[in-house]
Amino acid sequence: VSWAAWAQDELDAVRSEGRWRQPRDFDATGPTGSLDGRREVVSFASNDYLGLSAHPAVKAAATQALERWGTGSGSARLIVGSRPVHTELETELATWKNTEAAVLFSTGYAANLGTIGTLARAGGTILSDELNHASIIDGCRLSRARVGIYRHRDMDHLDQLLGETLGPAVVVTDSVFSMDGDVAPLEELAQRCAIRGALLVIDEAHGVLGPEIAAVDGVEVLRVGTLSKTLGSLGGFVAGSLSICQLVINRARSYIFTTAATPADSAAALAALRVLRSPEGDQLIDRLRRHVGRLVPGHPSPIIPVMIGDQGAALTAAADLLDRGLFVPAIRPPTVAPGTSRLRVTLSAGHLDGHVGRLLDALAELRLPLPGHAALAT
Ligand SMILES: Cc1ncc(COP(=O)(O)O)c(C=O)c1O
Repeated sequence: VSWAAWAQDELDAVRSEGRWRQPRDFDATGPTGSLDGRREVVSFASNDYLGLSAHPAVKAAATQALERWGTGSGSARLIVGSRPVHTELETELATWKNTEAAVLFSTGYAANLGTIGTLARAGGTILSDELNHASIIDGCRLSRARVGIYRHRDMDHLDQLLGETLGPAVVVTDSVFSMDGDVAPLEELAQRCAIRGALLVIDEAHGVLGPEIAAVDGVEVLRVGTLSKTLGSLGGFVAGSLSICQLVINRARSYIFTTAATPADSAAALAALRVLRSPEGDQLIDRLRRHVGRLVPGHPSPIIPVMIGDQGAALTAAADLLDRGLFVPAIRPPTVAPGTSRLRVTLSAGHLDGHVGRLLDALAELRLPLPGHAALAT
């Protein structure tokens, strides 16, 4: 059997499981644009939470970097790929995260892979929340460390696993879980880690509205982040103590063996970070919070799951919304567990009040349940 024929058989299986997926072209800046060249839609699918990818200052910074340094950086950071903008961005990321240092990666995915791999110590164990992002799961696997999975947000289970751990322990969690939009109990996690002497690694990729970790005595924290969501660009980073960051530079394979981020992407992220930390950033966050509150009062993140269950029903619900000009992706296995297919709504400060109103009306009309409401669909 040829490889192409084998691939075709595999694809047939994917299709028959109802799991076929392919990219769709969205011709847009911000949440409105043309989908597949066929229809105008409002997207509720992007992680550009503050709309900064379209901010004039961010675009101007990318353009200037392009003019000054050209397109690609040409090699890895440790060879000749490092530009002043990379270092400047690292310095400001560390200031923002209130850490001694930060290290830039070319994606958030690479940041998790490299950071977790670096922390695998002889005889050590990594404890990971069961709903952590795929990049954390892959980082754990690649690290070849012993890995324990604790039940989602279950501190007693974590405690039990920590109690069974003999050597050095690392606890890793998303701060906001990417498919559920709920948040980790950071305070409690920090306290458990402090008692057990474990290092706490927090992936804050979706943490635009918090939660923020407060300083807890006796716990070391590493903060992983991405430039591709709130900061509207591309790249990732880890922020923490100088010694761990320097070890990452010297050990993390996904840092060492890959080309440095493009200067334009890094310059865009740096400009976006400056907007975020300015009064304008506060206004954008307020606006995003207001949108979130209209869908689910008090919800802690811009990710709002509309739970459906059956994957076919989730696809039908997404298609019904698309008929109304609203693009909300259906999330189904293997991204989420079987029987928990859902629509994943993400909100942005870039949405207009009218966009959010249209979504609310359509969800009500289709009897699709927002969190906190009983399932209405029959
Ligand atoms: C929680 C989390 N961590 C890491 C990543 C990876 O970030 P990036 O897209 O920058 O590779 C993502 C999303 O893609 C994510 O949701």
